[in-house]
Amino acid sequence: MRPEVVRIGQIGLYVRDLEASRAFYEGLLGFVVVAERPGELYLRGYEERAWSLFLKEAPEPGVMWIGYKVASEADLDRVLDLAREHGLPAREEEAFERPRMVRIQDPFGYPVVFYFRDQKHERLLQAYHRYRGPGVLRIDHANVFTPRVAETLAFYREALGFRLTEYTEDDEGRLWAAWVHRKGNVHDLAFTNGEGPRLHHFAYWLPDPMSVIRAADILAGAMATDRIERGPGRHGISNAMFLYLRDPDGHRIELYTSDYLTVDPDLEPVRWSLNDPRRQTLWGHRTPKSWFLEGSQVEAFGGGFVPTEPPELEGLPEHVI
Ligand SMILES: [Fe+2]
Repeated sequence: MRPEVVRIGQIGLYVRDLEASRAFYEGLLGFVVVAERPGELYLRGYEERAWSLFLKEAPEPGVMWIGYKVASEADLDRVLDLAREHGLPAREEEAFERPRMVRIQDPFGYPVVFYFRDQKHERLLQAYHRYRGPGVLRIDHANVFTPRVAETLAFYREALGFRLTEYTEDDEGRLWAAWVHRKGNVHDLAFTNGEGPRLHHFAYWLPDPMSVIRAADILAGAMATDRIERGPGRHGISNAMFLYLRDPDGHRIELYTSDYLTVDPDLEPVRWSLNDPRRQTLWGHRTPKSWFLEGSQVEAFGGGFVPTEPPELEGLPEHVI
């Protein structure tokens, strides 16, 4: 039986200067601090009852793991079975307020953890007087660079039950990117053709499109426009409003809102042509080159970082600055 993944639930990042990261995530973006321990910071959005962003100070920036909430403790045993079946490295781990996590390295090198139990904190959703920054609500998705999009997509669909909502194809029918979900909106995870395994970005949901504009204004007010990489805009893919930022270590965070419902079991995935100018930004704005080339390295199962491979498909789409 396949483990039942509910949704993306957490991301863990290595950062070089925790105070600089705190100034960005808490000071500018308004994330709520759940706990701080020496060299560690645990953050959540206003809708979340448990932490979803873990920052750990380290000499080199990177991604500790991408984490998924599963439906029960038994699903963690199913993850262990799956790892055995596919010959994947796996172990049980504990984290702060996560008494049992199962960590695997997927067949493409990404560090992935699964958990069920978490520590719930005070409900803040309607404590509007305490909102700071643009009002970051909850983690929405991660997007990874993979050298082999089709193969990575097949594994996540077959082994973990992710469902395809949108994909980008060229005229020869080669797959350049794909968006898959578990929770019922456009994605919990996306695959982008590129040097990998690396994290492309992770994203948090904002209350509405005006909050995306507000985030840009806050960064401008704080003289931090160098943190803005792309947007604000509306994606063609997903229809969501977006703003891409780079944190002090270069990790890319997207502020995201207003995509659509995907719960119908017979939902038909949307196909986008690679060179459709409306694909990345519906209004046709060009995308900076850094967005296609730069990402965060990911931690190897035994420590250190996973060496990357060049992508199978070479070249950049049109509409690049
Ligand atoms: Fe995204």
